[in-house]
Amino acid sequence: MKSTKKITVHSPANIAFMKYWGQKDAAHILPYTDSFSMNLSECYTITTVQLESGQPQSTPQRQFYLKKYDEKDFEQQEGPVADKVSTYVDKICHHLKTSLPQSYTIYSTNSFPIGTGIASSASFFSSLAMAVSRALGATLSTRELSILARLSGSGSACRSLPDGFVWWHKGKSTTKSCAESIGSEKFWDLADIVLIFNDQHKRTGSQEGHKKAESSPFFTARVASTTANLPLIKKAFLDKDFAQFGQLIEADALSMHAVMMTQTPPLFYWSPATIRTIHWMTQLRETGQLESYFTIDAGENIHMILKATDVPAAIALLQKDTIISQPSQLIVNYPAKGAHTISRHLF
Ligand code: DP6
Repeated sequence: MKSTKKITVHSPANIAFMKYWGQKDAAHILPYTDSFSMNLSECYTITTVQLESGQPQSTPQRQFYLKKYDEKDFEQQEGPVADKVSTYVDKICHHLKTSLPQSYTIYSTNSFPIGTGIASSASFFSSLAMAVSRALGATLSTRELSILARLSGSGSACRSLPDGFVWWHKGKSTTKSCAESIGSEKFWDLADIVLIFNDQHKRTGSQEGHKKAESSPFFTARVASTTANLPLIKKAFLDKDFAQFGQLIEADALSMHAVMMTQTPPLFYWSPATIRTIHWMTQLRETGQLESYFTIDAGENIHMILKATDVPAAIALLQKDTIISQPSQLIVNYPAKGAHTISRHLF
């Protein structure tokens, strides 16, 4: 009997306050440390999945269409991008012990530039994990979905499933490495202004970078300091102690980039605009003009973490100050829900 199911999922990107870098077990995407992030309200992916089975005479077709944030139309993907999606769909079926769909059509679009250090693979693969598993009829818990998303290879995707502020427990085995919410999106009125200096695709992706993290002489020191700082940031978060929270996120971003820059081959994501903005934000803080803290993922773009009430003041400063290179785009994010189904399909 022919069966067709169409599911659409909205899934946020997330910004890590304590970051995941390096894999203890690359085959199962098990990290060395826990990590902690916030879902982003304005950086998200919407994915519609339609699976078909029970059509004996039809030729199996796997179609994946993508529309980038600045493009008008969906374009069918071929080659490595389509293959990656196909491999992951097979992995989901294998994980759920269900037979492969005969055919599928997937449409996906996102609200922000991809591959620039704003976790576009996290929002994409988390949306796919939820949409494909639901279309296959599986009703997984958020914890189980986070495991499935982690297995996509983009480990941080697991943090886009639970709501708000999310902790990824490193776990000792593949069934234990999962994410959970430690505060809903309403818990703390923070904001993340993403300053985009460069929206071009980064040269080296995180997945390649993780594999070389251990070659940095500072890697062991980072694992030790992150392990020590994780309980401190959790306390600062639960106490809403913004100054302590901010110091810890900056320290973590710097320690991750110190490892990146000293691994072999080295990864330099920063540009002159990144450094100038770090100085600018520090100076604003020291002169009492704006309390914001930076964090940076695998890209040159800066995430300015601040209290939501300070967003208008930050925008005014960003518009007037010439200290920093003018970002080509600003995205103001607030804490957001995790991945969820929506009823408006993309096709
Ligand atoms: C620097 O392997 O999850 O963002 O597949 O590129 O999304 P992508 O990355 P993934 O590594 C994320 C690395 C990070 C830090 C973090 O988000 O914890």
